[in-house]
Amino acid sequence: MESKEKELLTLKGKVGSCKKCELWKRRNHPVFGEGNFGSRLMFIGEAPGYFEDQQGKPFVGRAGKVLDELLESVGLQREDIFITNVVKCRPPDNRNPLPDEIEACSSYLDEQLQLIQPQTIVLLGKFALSYIFEKFDLKQRKISEVHGKVFKVRDLMGIKRLIPLYHPATATYNPQIKEVLLKDFKSVKIGT
Ligand code: URA
Ligand code: SF4
Repeated sequence: MESKEKELLTLKGKVGSCKKCELWKRRNHPVFGEGNFGSRLMFIGEAPGYFEDQQGKPFVGRAGKVLDELLESVGLQREDIFITNVVKCRPPDNRNPLPDEIEACSSYLDEQLQLIQPQTIVLLGKFALSYIFEKFDLKQRKISEVHGKVFKVRDLMGIKRLIPLYHPATATYNPQIKEVLLKDFKSVKIGT
C-alpha cells in the first residue's frame, strides 16, 4: 500500500512537469486527480476546465457541484472515490481534447488504473467512454445508448465494472439530464 502511494505521488510529479503535448503551454496547473488511492471506485472525466486549471483539482467548478450532489444521493463522498480525467491539462477555451492530446496523455491514466486497480470505473462523458471502451476491446457506443448500464470486463487483476454516465456538465444546462444522472447513479452504488 505504501509503495503504491509512493508510485502514485511519483506519477503526480511527472504530470506536474509534463510537456508531452501542446496543452502544457497554456495550463496554470495540471490536474492529476485526487481522492482515495485505495478506493475501489474510480471516476474518469474529460479534461480540466477553468476552475480546475486554476486550482489543480478535478471537478471543482459547476460540473463538480453536480457530481457532489450525485455522490451525496447515494451516500458517497469525495474521500471514498478517486477522480481524474482522460487529459490532465486544460484545453484552451474548454474545447474538446484532440486525438493526439489524448494519445499523449493516456499513459498517465493507464498507470493510475494499474496502480489503483478500481473494481468499478465510472465513465463521465464521451471521451472517457470512448477511451476506456477501446482499452477493454469493447465496441464503441454512444453515451445515449449505454448510460447507466454496467459492463463487466476482465483483465489480469480480475473482473471490473464499467459504468458510462452522461457528463455532469450536461446537467448544468439540461435539468432533464440531471434526473437521468440521479437514476443512473444508483448503479454506481450497487456493488461498492
Ligand atoms: N469536467 C471534466 O471533465 N473534468 C473536470 O475535472 C472538470 C470538468
Ligand atoms: Fe502532458 Fe497530458 Fe498535460 Fe499534455 S495534457 S502536457 S500529455 S499532462
